[in-house]
Amino acid sequence: MTVLITGGAGYIGSHCCVAFLAAGHDVVVLDNLSNSRMESLQRVGEISGRQIAFEKADVRDQAAVEELLRRHSCDSVVHFAGSKVPRDSIDRPLEYYDNNVVGTHRLLSAMAAAGVHRLIFSSTAAVYGQPQFFPVTEDHPLAPGHPYGRTKLMVEDMLRDVAASDDRWRFGILRYFNPVGAHPSGLIGEDPLGVPANLMPFIAQVASGRRERLQVFGNDYDTPDGTGVRDYIHVMDLVEGHLHAHDALENATPDNRCFTVNLGTGTGYSVLQMIHAFERASNRTVPYVIAPRRDGDVGECYAGVEKAAEVIHWRARRDLEAMCHDTWNWVCKNPRGYEAA
Ligand code: NAD
Ligand code: WQD
Repeated sequence: MTVLITGGAGYIGSHCCVAFLAAGHDVVVLDNLSNSRMESLQRVGEISGRQIAFEKADVRDQAAVEELLRRHSCDSVVHFAGSKVPRDSIDRPLEYYDNNVVGTHRLLSAMAAAGVHRLIFSSTAAVYGQPQFFPVTEDHPLAPGHPYGRTKLMVEDMLRDVAASDDRWRFGILRYFNPVGAHPSGLIGEDPLGVPANLMPFIAQVASGRRERLQVFGNDYDTPDGTGVRDYIHVMDLVEGHLHAHDALENATPDNRCFTVNLGTGTGYSVLQMIHAFERASNRTVPYVIAPRRDGDVGECYAGVEKAAEVIHWRARRDLEAMCHDTWNWVCKNPRGYEAA
């Protein structure tokens, strides 16, 4: 099949390209390179030994998207293109509603016009907001605590409404917990611009000496060691989940033409556990200081994983050691990310 991967030059998208190419699909990447570099796709080609068609375009450009869907005879879309930093979404909400909600609306309109009706969507555990119970299953109340989370929930609702309107549509809505790690080759990985907003890339930059120390945001949560607990998932597991979801849509019955599943491991680790696991993997120390809680953070969050096992026949299989090892391998081989290339 020919799969259009929007945002395919980004962190998760580039790993997804590798997984879909390995599964025998043809891949077309659409990316405006607003948060990524072409180098990631060169590396995808190196890993896969396969060519990817690249289209530098904006997902909000409906005419361009329709034209390229037709030209490449795309059968389906995996949609990563969007903006993803909660803090930025509080400062610049209109930008987030535009890129995430308007962007997906235009993409769906282009797909309808081109006769492409299958899409996998990157949603987030942020749609749940403050967890009311554990593990966080898909039927947990939806109450995102910031504009970014609300844009993702709006898109989820839009997809459910569109699916209900016409039974040709097939949607897989995937709620990611905390993606970390890198391809085991160390050729592709997460390359945040500026100061990393997320824990794992920050720890990696401290271990490599690029930053002096980590701030641990709060040690007074109601968790075993007081620091925040999250469900970290290896990016290779995550993208394999996309392949499973894509296959599930191919064989979808009328009842599961539009499904929503969590992609997590079901296990939570604290910030201190993450630091110590990374120290073991890297054989470096990670200096840290305890800092005040970060605004908007929840104490604990980990996924219910049974629905994904049932609906898309997938479970995460890589452990924390692999997550840290592969992150460290990527950082050692690319201390400045893709910048040097
Ligand atoms: P990323 O920023 O690395 O990748 C997004 C890609 O989309 C980038 O290459 C960027 O250039 C591109 N892009 C952005 N806006 C675009 C537009 N209008 N037109 C075309 N291309 C555009 O982010 P990521 O970490 O790979 O995340 C991918 C998706 O997964 C996002 O939708 C994000 O919200 C979602 N998600 C990410 C996480 C996470 O922790 N990384 C967690 C949950 C959900
Ligand atoms: C993890 C833990 C922090 C940095 C975010 C988004 C979410 C999703 C995934 C897109 C928390 C602590 C962090 C640091 C720290 N993204 N921490 N020092 O907040 O669970 O989720 O990324 O959809 O929407 O909100 O991930 O990696 O930022 O934080 O102590 O320098 O690490 O307090 O407990 P989070 P994170």
